Amino acid sequence: MGRGDGQISGPRHVAIIMDGNGRWARARGLPRAAGHRRGARVAHEIVEVASKAGVEALTLYAFSSENWRRPAHEVRLLLNLLRRTIKKELAALHANNVRMDFVGSRSRFPEGLIQEMQRSEAHTAANDGLRLNIAVDYGGRWDVVRQARELARQARSGTLDPDGIDESVFGAGLSLAHCSAPDLLIRTGGESRLSNFLLWEAAYSELYFTDVLWPDFHADTLHAAIDWFTRRERRFGNVAAGASHA
Ligand code: IPE
Ligand code: IPE
Ligand code: MG
Repeated sequence: MGRGDGQISGPRHVAIIMDGNGRWARARGLPRAAGHRRGARVAHEIVEVASKAGVEALTLYAFSSENWRRPAHEVRLLLNLLRRTIKKELAALHANNVRMDFVGSRSRFPEGLIQEMQRSEAHTAANDGLRLNIAVDYGGRWDVVRQARELARQARSGTLDPDGIDESVFGAGLSLAHCSAPDLLIRTGGESRLSNFLLWEAAYSELYFTDVLWPDFHADTLHAAIDWFTRRERRFGNVAAGASHA
């Protein structure tokens, strides 16, 4: 049992680092693009599965602030795929009551992609089902620095007392302030690192690393991660429930 009240509850917010597309393709003698295309289809499936599993928010890491370092043709391919996928999926996501938000800097994106993002956010803004956050040109450090700069501006203009800055004031200006912190953070593809994802928000996330490559991820893999989550004892710095007599 181990959750104190005996209640087994699933994660409200799941975040996923979708890694391994390139290795999936290489293992099949295919171009990396084939792995990315397959990865986009998997993302579609996982949104549905997460929604049915009662997850309230799903945050997908699609393009990091460091992914600009990739060869220009791969960056172009990823951004094109993103634009086409958003366009193709919008109607179905809206029909499923999903609310979409893009988190990350948009300033370096082509105009067509920015418009597609804005269109899907506006179109789904009134939906109250799954909250789908797609992290693109996102970096945890970018988000923290951006908020620090904003608070500094407010302090300089006299609208904010620096002594009033606490964790809740700071967190309220971060990109994912509209969601609770992720309960479960999954990384596929075998690496055990965050790669600059959700540095602030993942402070107490349960971290689940799997060797499964993202294009091979499916409903059962997500359910296995959720089952694993329900067996964790989350202490948040406290002692285990029932251990206080020791
Ligand atoms: C994840 O797959 C997709 C993005 C980072 C955009 P990768 O492209 O990183 O695949 P690997 O890690 O090279 O296998
Ligand atoms: C992390 O994967 C970013 C995304 C999945 C979008 P990377 O493949 O870019 O991470 P590193 O370079 O292996 O740390
Ligand atoms: Mg990778």
